[in-house]
Amino acid sequence: MEETRIPPTQYLCKKSFAKLGDQIRSARRPQRPAAGAAGDGAHAGYCEDARVSAFRIVVLASGSGTNLQAILDGLHGQGLVEVVGVGSDKPTAGALERGRRAGVETAVFPVADHPDRAARDEAMGDWIEAREADLVVLAGYMQLLSAPFVARFRNRVVNIHPALLPSFPGLDAIGQALAAGVEATGVTVHFVDEGVDTGPVIAQREVPVPAGVGREELEAAVHAVEHELYPEAIRMIAEGRVRIDPSDPRTVAIDD
Ligand code: GRF
Repeated sequence: MEETRIPPTQYLCKKSFAKLGDQIRSARRPQRPAAGAAGDGAHAGYCEDARVSAFRIVVLASGSGTNLQAILDGLHGQGLVEVVGVGSDKPTAGALERGRRAGVETAVFPVADHPDRAARDEAMGDWIEAREADLVVLAGYMQLLSAPFVARFRNRVVNIHPALLPSFPGLDAIGQALAAGVEATGVTVHFVDEGVDTGPVIAQREVPVPAGVGREELEAAVHAVEHELYPEAIRMIAEGRVRIDPSDPRTVAIDD
């Protein structure tokens, strides 16, 4: 029997900070009354369309987009979360086709179409803001984001990484885990800061590495966990249950 070295889902310490999801939404637009709340006329004319009142996310992806698909299947269009854009640096990214199939607006921002990476990120940021996104979700987005982009969307960009950070950051995390001979690796969802896979951790889940496991098999196991954990983490953020301590911005707290 494998020893479980961390709980199946590890959330960092709980304190009472301002709720991030609420901060994000109140900064953007007024909230419609909660479902079932008595109407007092003050919100008369405010659009009740879920596409307006839902927590709006833009997903950025460079590859096939299986994590995007998990988000589309598990969250999109069900009232709480709306995917309002899929962006990519690669015109051929499979994620774009997945977005189109779901009726989501797509856009491509190849760096070659801009003077430099900073200009590309500025154009992409303008598009994200025009979509009125609450959160930017990186799902296999293989470009480093420039520091001004990270600052512009501070604490509003999340990423998924196929390892238990801080172990195995950067490229080929699954290959790194196999080469290191670890008994377990996993998946991390974290906020994005200026470093490579260094931002505050939101959620982690372990994946065992059985002796002699093949790379494809381990990749499949990691991806299966990603497809559960990412929608769960985004749901928690959309529900306003994820909080960052302003005096200790590396600390993420999760409300039950
Ligand atoms: C995932 O393994 C994710 O952890 C990493 O990139 C991969 C994207 O896969 N950041 P997909 O395009 O979502 O299938």
